[in-house]
Amino acid sequence: MTQAILQLSEIEKAFPGVKALDKASLNVYPGRVMALMGENGAGKSTLMKVLTGIYSLDGGAIRYEDKPAAFKGPRDSQQAGISIIHQELNLIPDLTIAENIFLGREFTTPFGRVQWDKMYAEADKLLARLNVKHSAKTLLGALSLGEQQMVEIAKALSFESKVIIMDEPTDALTDTETESLFKVINELRDQGCGIVISPTA
Ligand SMILES: Nc1ncnc2c1ncn2[C@@H]1O[C@H](COP(=O)(O)OP(=O)(O)O)[C@@H](O)[C@H]1O
Ligand SMILES: [Mg+2]
Repeated sequence: MTQAILQLSEIEKAFPGVKALDKASLNVYPGRVMALMGENGAGKSTLMKVLTGIYSLDGGAIRYEDKPAAFKGPRDSQQAGISIIHQELNLIPDLTIAENIFLGREFTTPFGRVQWDKMYAEADKLLARLNVKHSAKTLLGALSLGEQQMVEIAKALSFESKVIIMDEPTDALTDTETESLFKVINELRDQGCGIVISPTA
C-alpha cells in the first residue's frame, strides 16, 4: 500500500451560523487521481482553502510528506508542491499569459534583468502541453474563461507540483479543453503526481 503524500484528518471549520466542515478527512496518494464529490455547499472549496491556509482550521490535522503541515497561504503551499486551481481564477487580465504564469518569480539574469525570451519560451511549452492555441505573449484578458483556466493549470504545471487539486475545473471548459485537461491529468498521474478533482455537481 502506497503511503499518502497528503493527509487531511478530521478537519473542522465553522463560519458564523454554518458548520462547513465536520471532521472531514481526505488522503491523497502519489500516482492516483481521486474525485472529491459532494453537493453544492458540502464544503469542498472550504476544505481546499483550509489546506492552503486561506482559512484557519478549527480542528483536525494536516500532514504532508509525513510531517505536520500548516501553510500560510496559497503561495506557501504552492512552493511546497501543492497547487490548487480554484473555481475563482487568480489571474490578471492586463498581463500576458507568460507574465501570469511566472508572476513574482520571473526568470532573471544574475544582474536582475528579466529574461523575457526564456520566460515566453517556457510558457509556450506549457501551453503546447495543454494544447492551448495562443502565444504566451497574448494578454490574458483576450482569452475565454476556459482558456484562462488552462493558464491556471499551466501555472500549476510550472511549479512541478506533487499534488494538484482542481476545484470544479471543467465548469468553464469546452469539450476539447476538457479532453486536453484529462490527457494532462493522466500524464501527471503517470509521473507520480497526486491529483484531486472536485467535479461540478
Ligand atoms: N467565507 C465564507 N463565509 C461564510 N460561509 C461560508 C464561506 N465560505 C463557505 N461558506 C459556507 O460553507 C459551506 C460550504 O461551502 P463550500 O466550501 O463553498 O462548498 P462547496 O465547495 O462544496 O460547494 C456553505 O454553507 C457555504 O455557504
Ligand atoms: Mg466549491
